[in-house]
Amino acid sequence: MEVNLKTGRFEEVETGALAVLSFEGEPDAAVDAATKGWLKELYESGEFSGKSCQTALLHRPAGFRAKRLLVVGGGKTEEFTPAEMRKAASLASRTLQAKKVSRIAFAPGDGHATAEFVSAAVEGAILGAFEPDRYKTDSKKDEKPLEAFSLVGSADLRGVVEQARILAEAQNFTRLIANEPANLLTPADLAKHARETAAEFGLECEVLDQDRMRQLGMGALLGVAQGSAEPPALIVLRYVPEKAAGSDHLALVGKGVTFDTGGVSIKPADGMEKMKYDMCGGAAVLGAMRAIAQRKPPVRITALIPAVENMVGAKAQRPGDIVTTMNGKTVEVLNTDAEGRLILIDAITYALQLGCTHLVDAATLTGSVVIALGHHRTGVYTNNDPFVAKVLAAAERQGEKMWRMPMDSEYKEQLKTCFADLANIGTRWGGSITAAWFIREFVADKPWVHLDIAGTAYLDDAKPWMAKGPTGVAVRTFVDLVTNWT
Ligand code: BES
Ligand code: ZN
Ligand code: ZN
Repeated sequence: MEVNLKTGRFEEVETGALAVLSFEGEPDAAVDAATKGWLKELYESGEFSGKSCQTALLHRPAGFRAKRLLVVGGGKTEEFTPAEMRKAASLASRTLQAKKVSRIAFAPGDGHATAEFVSAAVEGAILGAFEPDRYKTDSKKDEKPLEAFSLVGSADLRGVVEQARILAEAQNFTRLIANEPANLLTPADLAKHARETAAEFGLECEVLDQDRMRQLGMGALLGVAQGSAEPPALIVLRYVPEKAAGSDHLALVGKGVTFDTGGVSIKPADGMEKMKYDMCGGAAVLGAMRAIAQRKPPVRITALIPAVENMVGAKAQRPGDIVTTMNGKTVEVLNTDAEGRLILIDAITYALQLGCTHLVDAATLTGSVVIALGHHRTGVYTNNDPFVAKVLAAAERQGEKMWRMPMDSEYKEQLKTCFADLANIGTRWGGSITAAWFIREFVADKPWVHLDIAGTAYLDDAKPWMAKGPTGVAVRTFVDLVTNWT
């Protein structure tokens, strides 16, 4: 999709549809004046009241060069945040794309011409246009995706529009990769996407194969991978800034389980197809790196994506197996379905060996976090207050809802076993916290933040402003975190 900025009055913008906002209670004065009272009449009719997610479409609006005018409800003016703007713009592009409009424009209004609001509007429009339909042959024939989006605003917003485009396209890239079915996205395929991204945007990429992992002693990662005919890959992408602001070196680690059957501790059939999303953390890291390569923040970043398929089979690891991790600790695998933590710890140990000073990971790690927080917030776990504050501030700025979870040491007790240094699961209770503690045992006291995105990485049903499937959560937080690193 072509994304650009158009200056001048919104009435003058030539486009298939111009989208504008109007809030609860009062029809937007500028839009009402331009439409010569049409908007006020619309409010009086009761058909539209400015509530969030409402829309009204006018064809051939008199006095406009646009072919259509779409009014989008912004909700209550005082509750209108950049997150609401993102949603409204997303709803606009989704609505208009469904009506097969190919070129659209969005006027955020004078009161919302700040960088935060404009950025959110551009992101929303791009995110809203994403449809997970690449394998639908019939719809592909006659449905054209949105071709162009213009933000109507002043010339000084050009940079904002460009940065927002980079960010949202990276997030859509994450969604595209995350939505690939496991037969079309194996660990090797994920590695191929990483190599292509690196080549296109100028990053270093290295993929560690099984032999290299054996040399390095990554017994936990290899144990998960051994049940699959698809060989594992540890994908490493490096971004080195031209001018680093300091000596910090951030590791972004993403769980890349291309399919999670649960292994011998097999999952129920119902809903298992969603386990193709078990690489959403890895896809988020890859998407973030794509944006990072273009935005060029002043901090060194290494992305690590342990990619495996967790399968059942003659070679699969069994409950009770004991593996030796890269850092030498032994783990009793009491449940083969708790595989995410096993692959993450070897990737984290490798990150430490590479000299990373800070660690952030994203993983669709536990069903427990969904019990705790539902689908509305990502669970956040840490060993470091100042660092988590930075991550939460980035998430807040980006409208990615997160919630810090407790990590009292009592939870850790659940991981004790008499047969090895650690068990890979605790009890049913507080399962996302014991999972986080398991990882924490391998971070060597480096500032570390873990995002459990099991509840937020994909939508089971479409929202008016977002398609069903992967959301690309964590991409914006990661990119914001590194952009505002110092
Ligand atoms: N990939 C799953 C977690 C998951 C569950 C992601 C639901 C998205 C939606 C993970 O590997 C897993 O199976 N975790 C187990 C851990 C348990 C065996 C301790 C879980 O949460 O049930
Ligand atoms: Zn699992
Ligand atoms: Zn999993």
